[in-house]
Amino acid sequence: MNLLKPWRQACEVALRSYSDADALRFWRVGHDTAEGPKPVFNYRFEHTFAAVKLTRWLCPLVGADLDVVECAAWLHDVRKRLKDPENKDTHAQDASAAVAEILAGTDFPMEKIPAVRHAIEHHVGLRLTKRLEPLETACLWDCDKLSKVGAASLIHFGCVSGAFQPIDTEEILRRGTAWLTLAEGIVASFNTEPARREGARRLDFIKAHYAQLQREWSEPMEPMPEVSE
Ligand SMILES: [Fe+2]
Ligand SMILES: [Fe+2]
Repeated sequence: MNLLKPWRQACEVALRSYSDADALRFWRVGHDTAEGPKPVFNYRFEHTFAAVKLTRWLCPLVGADLDVVECAAWLHDVRKRLKDPENKDTHAQDASAAVAEILAGTDFPMEKIPAVRHAIEHHVGLRLTKRLEPLETACLWDCDKLSKVGAASLIHFGCVSGAFQPIDTEEILRRGTAWLTLAEGIVASFNTEPARREGARRLDFIKAHYAQLQREWSEPMEPMPEVSE
């Protein structure tokens, strides 16, 4: 009889419990549910789940080890706090140090843990000056950053931004437009060809979104741009 726990479930439980507690700390308010207080929005979980989904898309396309990259995606931010009160960011190292304990007693292939930890330790930063290696580490970077560009990223940004400061449409527009420059840097840095193509498509989408928001929020509303034949 196999008594080992499924590793994906163990990763999800670990991420959910840490990030729910951290989001409740940060928002300082929660919703009462049958399972206890729940945060208004758990940005960390939603961002991570978007990255996990991307690993299942990207890895088969480039021939990367999905066990390694998906596991690294689940756990890459598992010790990251929303605005760390100690103001030092060691979340990649802290997450890497937690991997073995989270996967203990699961069916994850233990010989792959060093590759998971390597990917996690190299996932930070919004720009790369050279391609990451090995392929699994490169894929985690691409999936993590791709999840910050696109339709879901706009929802995540809109939902979490009110936790950091009072927010209104004008401020969302200002911050969102400033993010476009960083997003361009991300797309230029992708390690893999599928991520570069998907990133370019998503970048066009968020540029169009903020251009439309700018148009709607100007007074009087700007005319419709000319559509070329
Ligand atoms: Fe991170
Ligand atoms: Fe992340």
